[in-house]
Amino acid sequence: MAENEKRVAVVTGGSRGIGRAIILALAEPDLQVVFNHYDPDDVAAAETVRLAAERRCQAEGEKLDVSNYEAVQEFFRKVADRFGRIDILVNNAGITRDGFLSRMKEADWDAVLAVNLKSAFNCTQAVSRFMMKQRYGRIVNIASVVGAMGNAGQANYAASKAGVIGFTKSIARELASRNITVNAVAPGFIETDMTAVLPEKVKEAFLAQIPLGRAGRTEDVAQAVKFLTSEAASYITGQVIHVNGGMYM
Ligand SMILES: NC(=O)c1ccc[n+]([C@@H]2O[C@H](COP(=O)([O-])OP(=O)(O)OC[C@H]3O[C@@H](n4cnc5c(N)ncnc54)[C@H](O)[C@@H]3O)[C@@H](O)[C@H]2O)c1
Repeated sequence: MAENEKRVAVVTGGSRGIGRAIILALAEPDLQVVFNHYDPDDVAAAETVRLAAERRCQAEGEKLDVSNYEAVQEFFRKVADRFGRIDILVNNAGITRDGFLSRMKEADWDAVLAVNLKSAFNCTQAVSRFMMKQRYGRIVNIASVVGAMGNAGQANYAASKAGVIGFTKSIARELASRNITVNAVAPGFIETDMTAVLPEKVKEAFLAQIPLGRAGRTEDVAQAVKFLTSEAASYITGQVIHVNGGMYM
């Protein structure tokens, strides 16, 4: 099969954690995956490529800061030139810079808003040009339970994720007539590098709030994303699917 006959999925932040699980959930021989990451080295990205290849799916990753508008436009131009189409975009890249408001540094506010929210604008605007021409697209934005509930010590992160939800609903309305669906998945407390660094007391406090009694796995989130990108979800747009073990209802 020629490269451009495959469906094409772009996943941001695909080297590790939830992004890698999304790639592996989507992975199949008829799908070309292109992902980016911002790790200091390519070790985790290479492992994502290897695991996708085990599923006979070709994945390619590159280091790219998704908060950089120009770099993102260039990245999507390259993907579209090379593969001729972009069917799926998952805006997954994200960071935390936690701290109480009184001590939060301006740089920590700006970094979290740039990587978590502006990136969704950067990538979605770039991809929407191609998807509108195709009259087809599936966009899934990774929000967070914190965007709906708020969380002390995460004002920047919660604001960015609430922003992602508002962005999702607005773009869903704008792109619906072109057969492009735009949804969000809001994970709860998921075991990844992002949460591994939390103090034990904070982890225990999260677990105590989860009716299903366990932290989430990256696959739990990935399966919701996979569903939203499938034909079975073609009549779903502008929605937020919460994957949080009942932590927020
Ligand atoms: N882990 C959780 O409990 C949890 C809960 C709710 C939401 N989320 C969200 O899920 C998404 C993935 O989180 P995770 O837990 O897998 O995190 P992670 O730290 O394990 O992985 C983050 C990924 O994003 C990439 N990234 C970071 N900054 C980037 C940048 N500037 N440009 C491009 N890529 C960048 C990293 O390289 C990595 O691939 C994030 O949006 C996060 O906010 C996570």
